[in-house]
Amino acid sequence: MKYTVSIGAYLLLLLFAAHASGARLQVCKPSGKIRGKKPPPGKCNQENDSDCCKEGKLYDKYTCSPPVSGSTNAVLTLNSFEKGGDGGGPSECDKKYHSDDKLVVALSTGWYSGGGRCLNNITISANGRSTSAMVVDECDSSKGCDADHDYQPPCANNIVDASKAVWKALGVPENDWGWLHVTWSNA
Ligand SMILES: *[C@@H]1O[C@H](CO)[C@@H](O)[C@H](O)[C@H]1NC(C)=O
Ligand SMILES: *[C@@H]1O[C@H](CO)[C@@H](O)[C@H](O)[C@H]1NC(C)=O
Repeated sequence: MKYTVSIGAYLLLLLFAAHASGARLQVCKPSGKIRGKKPPPGKCNQENDSDCCKEGKLYDKYTCSPPVSGSTNAVLTLNSFEKGGDGGGPSECDKKYHSDDKLVVALSTGWYSGGGRCLNNITISANGRSTSAMVVDECDSSKGCDADHDYQPPCANNIVDASKAVWKALGVPENDWGWLHVTWSNA
């Protein structure tokens, strides 16, 4: 009898654990698709490996990002926050442009959190180094392929899109700038 009870309790515990990890693994699914439009002539600055929308191609859009933890996995990309840079319009948080020598980033829509992290600093870590950087913009995962986004596809949902100053601060050699696995946390 005792034996049966403990097996039952054990199974319950297993079920509970499976349920809990299922909740933790709850994935952020696309909220729909955007159909690519061809950038008008002279639009979509392709410097720094910026991607341009392709006519008719379907791009996933997201309003969520993976859950934030004390060490959230992300992909670091390179962005210019200056006027005429590949970042499109001024930054969402303050409607201003920012020098690429400043430690500034844009976050994917879910992490940008409707501006909830605006002008707060986050800590970004990679290669055993860390830097702080200020959130000034949204890397829009829910829109793209339009003039506001310089005819670039919507952002992935796990992006920290950073100025060159951030790449420098992390000690990444300039030839390797563009794509790097990092972790970040609220500073
Ligand atoms: C490309 O990146 C470099 C280094 O960050 C920057 O100086 C330049 O302005 C960028 N170009 C564009 C068009 O964003
Ligand atoms: C973020 O960091 C910058 C530069 O170090 C600092 O000037 C600013 O006050 C910080 N912002 C917050 C909200 O802590």
